[in-house]
Amino acid sequence: MMAKNIELNNGELMPAIGLGTWRADESGVLAQTIKTAVNLGYRHIDCAKIYGNQEEIGKALKEVGVPRKDLYIVSKFYQNKHRPELVAGALDEILDELQLDYLDLLLMHWPYAIKPEIGTITFSSIDIEDVPIMDTWRAMEDLVSTGKVRSIGVSNFNQAVLEKMIPQCRIVPAVNQVEIHPYNQEKELVKFCKKSGIAVTGYCPLGGTKINVMNDNFIKHVAEAHIGTPAQVALSWALARGIAVIPKSTNEIRLKQNLHQVTLTSDEMRMIGKIDKHERKVDPAREYKELEWVFHEDKMECPVI
Ligand SMILES: NC(=O)c1ccc[n+]([C@@H]2O[C@H](COP(=O)([O-])OP(=O)(O)OC[C@H]3O[C@@H](n4cnc5c(N)ncnc54)[C@H](OP(=O)(O)O)[C@@H]3O)[C@@H](O)[C@H]2O)c1
Repeated sequence: MMAKNIELNNGELMPAIGLGTWRADESGVLAQTIKTAVNLGYRHIDCAKIYGNQEEIGKALKEVGVPRKDLYIVSKFYQNKHRPELVAGALDEILDELQLDYLDLLLMHWPYAIKPEIGTITFSSIDIEDVPIMDTWRAMEDLVSTGKVRSIGVSNFNQAVLEKMIPQCRIVPAVNQVEIHPYNQEKELVKFCKKSGIAVTGYCPLGGTKINVMNDNFIKHVAEAHIGTPAQVALSWALARGIAVIPKSTNEIRLKQNLHQVTLTSDEMRMIGKIDKHERKVDPAREYKELEWVFHEDKMECPVI
C-alpha cells in the first residue's frame, strides 16, 4: 500500500511520505539518491539550510525532470535568521540554493534564536538571543502573499509554545515537524496539533542511527507477521496515526521499502503504543541548559513568544 497526501489547514496537499536529507551529503551520493527516490515515486523532499546540501538537491531535482508542480519541497531556515528583518532573505537564500521559485512549505527550524553571525551547527550559550517567536512568525506570515512559499509551519514546537502562539497568529502553522518514532510517540502533542488543525510530520521516524527502534523485539515480531521490515512497521504505525514521515535513506532497496506500508491491526497499533520510552535522538538541552524548555516543558517555561 502506498501512502497518500495529508491535507493541510489551507487546503494544500502534502505527500505523507517524504525523503529526509540530513546527513545524506556524502559527495555525489545525495544527487543520486534524489534521482533514485524521485524515480521510485517520492515527491516530498525535506531539506534545511543547515544541512548544507541544498545546492546538490536543487541540481538533482532539475536533472530528474519531474515538473515542479508535482514536487513538494520543504525547507527550514536556521536559528540565526530569526530576527524579523532577516526572514525574507533567509527564504531567498534557500530558494537560490535549491534553484526554485517557490517552496511548498517553509518551517521555522527551532523555536529559539541565535545571533546572526553564527552560521554553523555549533554555537555557545552566549550566542542564544531573545527574538520573540511571534516576531519571526509574523515575518513568515508576510512571505505567503509574495508567492515564494505556499505554506508556513514550525518544527520542534511543544504544546505550551503553540498554545501561546496560536491565538496571536494571522496564519496558524500548517505543520509542526517533530521527532516521532515508536520510542518517542508524542501522543499529547499530536492530539493537540490535530485539534488545532496543525498537521504533524515525524522526523527520525526510524529512530535515526541512535535510537534502537528497528531492533525492538515487538517491532521485529510485527514485521515478521506481515512479511515486512521493522522500518515498514515504524513508518506504517506513524502513517496510521495520520502523521507524515520523512525517512532518510541513500540505499535504493530501503528507499523502495520505505514507500510501502504494511496494514497494522488495531491490536498491533495499541501494543506499539505501549513501547514509548520518551527517548529522543535530538535534544538541544543536552548541550545548552537554557534550552531545556524546548522539550522539557515541566522544567522551564519558554522565555519568549
Ligand atoms: N526538524 C528537525 O529538527 C529535524 C531533525 C532531524 C531530522 N530531520 C529530518 O528527518 C529526516 C529523517 O531523520 P534521520 O535521517 O535522522 O533518521 P531516520 O530517517 O529515522 O533514519 C535514518 C537511518 O535509517 C537507515 N534506514 C533508512 N531506511 C531503512 C530501512 N528501510 N531499513 C533499515 N535502515 C534504514 C538509514 O540508513 P541508509 O541511508 O543506509 O538506508 C539511516 O541510517 C532527516 O533526514 C531530516 O530531513 C529533521
